[in-house]
Amino acid sequence: MEDLRKEIERRRTFAIISHPDAGKTTLTEKLLLYGGAIRLAGSVKSRKSKNYAVSDWMEIEKQRGISVTSSVMQFNYDGYVINILDTPGHQDFSEDTYRTLMAADSAVMVVDAAKGVEDQTRKLFHVCSLRNIPIFTIVNKMDREARDPFELMEDIENELGIKTYPMNWPIGSGKDFKGVYERESSSIQVFSSAGTHGSSTVASVKGSVDDPVFKDLIGDSYHEELKENIELLDIAGNEFDMGEVLKGNLSPVFFASALTNFGIEPFLKSFLELTSPPLPRATSEGEEIDVFSDDFSAFVFKIQANMNPQHRDRIAFIRICSGKFKKGMEVYHYQGKNKIKLSQPQQFLAQDREVVEEAYAGDIIGVFDPGIYAIGDTLTEPKNKFKFEGIPAFAPEHFARVRPMDTIKRKQFVKGITQVAQEGAIQVYKEHHIGMEEIIVGVVGTLQMDVLEFRLKNEYGVDIKIDHLPYRFVRWIETADVDLDNIDITSDTKLVTDLRGRNILLFQNEWGISWVLNHNDNLTLTDVGKVD
Ligand code: G4P
Repeated sequence: MEDLRKEIERRRTFAIISHPDAGKTTLTEKLLLYGGAIRLAGSVKSRKSKNYAVSDWMEIEKQRGISVTSSVMQFNYDGYVINILDTPGHQDFSEDTYRTLMAADSAVMVVDAAKGVEDQTRKLFHVCSLRNIPIFTIVNKMDREARDPFELMEDIENELGIKTYPMNWPIGSGKDFKGVYERESSSIQVFSSAGTHGSSTVASVKGSVDDPVFKDLIGDSYHEELKENIELLDIAGNEFDMGEVLKGNLSPVFFASALTNFGIEPFLKSFLELTSPPLPRATSEGEEIDVFSDDFSAFVFKIQANMNPQHRDRIAFIRICSGKFKKGMEVYHYQGKNKIKLSQPQQFLAQDREVVEEAYAGDIIGVFDPGIYAIGDTLTEPKNKFKFEGIPAFAPEHFARVRPMDTIKRKQFVKGITQVAQEGAIQVYKEHHIGMEEIIVGVVGTLQMDVLEFRLKNEYGVDIKIDHLPYRFVRWIETADVDLDNIDITSDTKLVTDLRGRNILLFQNEWGISWVLNHNDNLTLTDVGKVD
């Protein structure tokens, strides 16, 4: 029991979120490097993969390491066991990213110092804020020309509605980047431009801000300016409040340069100290399951098909929520209503997969899926039959009517579409009063539509016809007793239901949403499909 608690307490499970190009991959490499997971940074993934087209997707599909959709990497550092949930950089796969965030206990948000908050940062942040998980910010690329740090703080606060607390403060930027001042220890860490790209240690000089040696190192004017800035921060800035950090209301901010490896290890140390061990998860009944319980429980947050095309296998990624997992153990699959042995459990480390013997709450493992799991499914000890609250559906932005070219292939078509939807790669809707002969597919990114076409052809032998539809927004109807036949909608709004029978409206523009809200009293709409 003591051992179980110790093992769980040293786990930290988080996701890194960012707009493409802000430096997520570079940061991940550096973090793995500190854990000794890879000898030389630069090998996490081919950078080119983020600009892939469908043909590349297929190619990547063949190797399917950790490149395309989110996976997880585990490493040890300073007594901690760290699980990084990787998220795909390509925004067409962002629904996958959204769901991955459901398995994280905190998030690290990487912001480009020259660009500030960008589109994808905003969307991913929104998903994190739905769960009130702690969000840490890294303002990256300080070795390049950057925006004024006060302006960047303001940008994060105004754009995202979260308060900020700079843990350190940059001294200059770009060619004149001198280093950072660490607020907690009141010390300066001087940047060495020699570049330490591939190494895990950074040479730096550390000491008190008043130490005259720093005046010489960073120059008189920077020294003066720094002292003024520190004073301003102390007087006018937010106070550090751990409770607010844990609720996701206050984001600790670190200025750093992932490429040159500057400020990354201090960030990691501070982050590990400030974040909590795995957080408890609630059941559909609202009861919280004790993370440290002896009993194993987990939920499926991601399904990845065809990791090995020769075998057409599917891997279900599960997040362990309580207790300990042992290889070959028998668990109860709540949604399937049967007992199963978890076969071929795997853990992921950079490009390698290895079979896991045991894993603890907070860890993520991949289990072989013979086509029985769906996103959000619960696994428990056979004696405990409960289900965790589900994973919400996120709003797609592209819609199309999809049907098989050849009506004889109807059965395979429905099977294929349903499986791909179960994996969470697409959302499927039916029109009100019309059955499965008219299927509308919703995706977050258009590349997913191409992937659907490719997969139906290759895996199910069905050629499909895709007619794109002009809808852009989806809203789930929250009102329980809504009279669907008498709901007042504009002619360019469509009423559909999803595979779980939830009522949905598809809109072409935001104006349509306000129109419907204005013409239907007591109608409540949401942009996140509620969980059950
Ligand atoms: P992403 O995963 O968020 O999409 O970003 P990634 O780490 O791939 O970084 C995007 C680009 O920004 C890369 O350059 C990377 O080297 C660079 N970069 C990341 N962190 C820093 C930093 O702290 N300082 C500077 N100056 N650059 C940084 P690239 O030219 O696109 O790729 P590569 O040719 O360097 O591999």
